[in-house]
Amino acid sequence: MPRRLGVLISGNGSNLQSLIDAIAEGRLDASIGVVISNVGDAPGLERARRAGIEALHVSHTGWPSREAYDRALVSLLRERRIDLVCLAGFMRIVGSPMLEAYPGAILNIHPSLLPAFPGIDAQRQAFEHGVKIAGVTVHLVSSELDAGPIVLQRSLGVLPGDTAETLAARLLEQEHIAYPEAVAAILSGRWRLEGRRLVSTEAP
Ligand code: GRF
Repeated sequence: MPRRLGVLISGNGSNLQSLIDAIAEGRLDASIGVVISNVGDAPGLERARRAGIEALHVSHTGWPSREAYDRALVSLLRERRIDLVCLAGFMRIVGSPMLEAYPGAILNIHPSLLPAFPGIDAQRQAFEHGVKIAGVTVHLVSSELDAGPIVLQRSLGVLPGDTAETLAARLLEQEHIAYPEAVAAILSGRWRLEGRRLVSTEAP
């Protein structure tokens, strides 16, 4: 029985698409049980529907508290028997109800080599800082923003003619490779945490 992913998005959903494609192509043994967006017109919702995946708009506004929104997400995910939550451009901080419901089972993708450049617009932050090597990180989500244990990183060189935009576009290509690989690695179960280091338990 393939494990069930819940993917949370806020926008374009190209990382969602990379997961859909990896599953369709047999590179990732999983299924996507639901896609939830806090933004109603997120193009990613349409990507999900096109792939026959349930796509829900659950706005983050109008709730009595941030925790109430989180609890609503937990209910929706649990009702659908979701095993692993993948944040894919979800522009909200997940709070304790989500972290407690899915301990060690929420992933995020971030377009920098963490711990450098957490937060928004990471590609531009890195470009303007003048880094020569940039990259992307998939990490387990913890209560601190962009700070959980690192699952996988991919790097690339910044080219002389790059702009923040061309760099961001090349980084996005790396994200699309990294996310399905990281999800597969986590679902394999062949890892453990040593402090904040995620180490493989595969035979060398
Ligand atoms: C990606 O750069 C991701 O790393 C960041 O938000 C962007 C989402 O892109 N968290 P998309 O919606 O997956 O196309």
